[in-house]
Amino acid sequence: MERPDWYYDDLKQVGTDFADAQEVATYDERQNDSAEDAALLERLGLEASAALADIGCGTGLLACAAAKIARAVHAIDISLPMLKATRRRAEALRLTNITTEQAGFLSFAAPEASLDVITTKFALHHLPDRWKGVALDRMARALKPGGTLFIRDVVFSCRPAELPQTAEAWIAWMLANTGYDRATVACHLRDEHSTYGWIMEGLIRQAGFDLLSAEYSNGVYADYLARKPRPQ
Ligand SMILES: C[S@@+](CC[C@H](N)C(=O)[O-])C[C@H]1O[C@@H](n2cnc3c(N)ncnc32)[C@H](O)[C@@H]1O
Repeated sequence: MERPDWYYDDLKQVGTDFADAQEVATYDERQNDSAEDAALLERLGLEASAALADIGCGTGLLACAAAKIARAVHAIDISLPMLKATRRRAEALRLTNITTEQAGFLSFAAPEASLDVITTKFALHHLPDRWKGVALDRMARALKPGGTLFIRDVVFSCRPAELPQTAEAWIAWMLANTGYDRATVACHLRDEHSTYGWIMEGLIRQAGFDLLSAEYSNGVYADYLARKPRPQ
């Protein structure tokens, strides 16, 4: 269907340019294939019969961990180099139940009520808040009643007045604990669309989800677990 001229172009890169193959290679080097994703999927209760979509899948760590358990995994990202890395990882693990799609939160093609679980890690902040709302509505439609949504992202749990201190504290933490440099973190803060926790919670509820938990850490990270209600 043709989109109106006012619609957001979710295939455009915002902030870090993940259409750049070198940027993706650097990103992948910083990833550590820990037990974290397996623990997350266990917490979500991912079942063997499930269909899961990971949106903003990056290099496919979580998608591949899910494909070891679930019947079908859809790995969705706007970046072709990211999708290539996902396919490479899936092939190396001999996983044949992963499909990839070049699309974003506003353009992925999952049919209505076709998915049991949607996960998205560190990707939703690429959309401005108004379009996060549309993305959440699309995710709600794609989930079956009773389906699970898990979001992990950079989200500020401080008050707006505390943003400058929170931002500087995050930069200092990233420099001390990760391979990221100040310019990269500053780019996130300046050009990407990480928002406040109270806005995220409102957007999730406005999309019709039951918000089961909202966990904040370090002032800048959030995990949301939400469920699409079953009809009464
Ligand atoms: C910081 S990476 C996170 C990747 C992966 N989820 C992870 O946790 O490692 C952000 C990802 O979101 C993707 N992305 C950016 N804008 C997007 C959009 N509008 N829709 C879907 N994915 C998007 C990027 O291409 C990139 O792969």
